[in-house]
Amino acid sequence: MNLPYQNSNLMSTDSVLTLTDLQFGYSLGPNLIDIPHFEIKAGESVFLRGPSGSGKSTLLGLIGGVLTPQSGKISICGKELTEISSGQRDKIRADHLGIIFQQFNLLPYIGVIQNCILPCRFSASRRNRALRSSHSVEAEAEALTSGLGLTDEDLKRKVGELSVGQQQRVAVARALIGGPDLIIADEPTSALDHDNRDRFIELLNQSREKFGSSLLFVSHDQTLASHFDRAVSLTELNQRVAA
Ligand SMILES: Nc1ncnc2c1ncn2[C@@H]1O[C@H](COP(=O)(O)OP(=O)(O)OP(=O)(O)O)[C@@H](O)[C@H]1O
Ligand SMILES: [Mg+2]
Repeated sequence: MNLPYQNSNLMSTDSVLTLTDLQFGYSLGPNLIDIPHFEIKAGESVFLRGPSGSGKSTLLGLIGGVLTPQSGKISICGKELTEISSGQRDKIRADHLGIIFQQFNLLPYIGVIQNCILPCRFSASRRNRALRSSHSVEAEAEALTSGLGLTDEDLKRKVGELSVGQQQRVAVARALIGGPDLIIADEPTSALDHDNRDRFIELLNQSREKFGSSLLFVSHDQTLASHFDRAVSLTELNQRVAA
């Protein structure tokens, strides 16, 4: 892989994500998320565990902008999302967040490189950062995918024709391109066996360290915690939600 590019020049004491008094419940239901305070610092990797149905994907949906909180604040790299327009929110997320979804959300009918460069279409700053280490975003996607173990043959195929493990690598490359400040990953290893799962997380960690990206990785599988700087439980964060 080429030399890494810097992300947003954050210091390790800076916060890439701060949640304050965040509350969310689906319509008619009780509050599922009620978090007084949660913070991730620049460069930090955090494992968030919680049983199935406890609200992990819901929390990532709030951070990723698919869901809107009933109250409270979400700050990404010091920018408060709840006080700005939805267009500005989309831009901040596109610039600063890399997202690995539970089902990857790759586009199956297009190729590996075309999937990987999608974030650079939505964010000029990620495109510009990618262009600091490669002459084109496509070349940067190739460098990332080969660093993650995808072969030239894999790159010639549509993503829908790849194995689950290969698709996971595409999802990681797409999240990493353009050095986002924070990567959020929703149980991307649930379909893997033990050895492949550990290898996948190590690959994700090595790659995101090169870019200086922070990581929030959620899973119900507590045995994964040792791969990360810090582990937290959603139940403990959710202090005011009745067990
Ligand atoms: N769109 C929705 N409308 C109403 N309730 C929902 C919706 N999505 C999720 N829920 C409910 O919210 C709760 C939390 O769901 P969520 O998907 O966040 O859990 P999770 O911790 O990610 O679980 P898993 O480990 O199985 O992925 C569940 O009880 C679920 O049924
Ligand atoms: Mg989930």
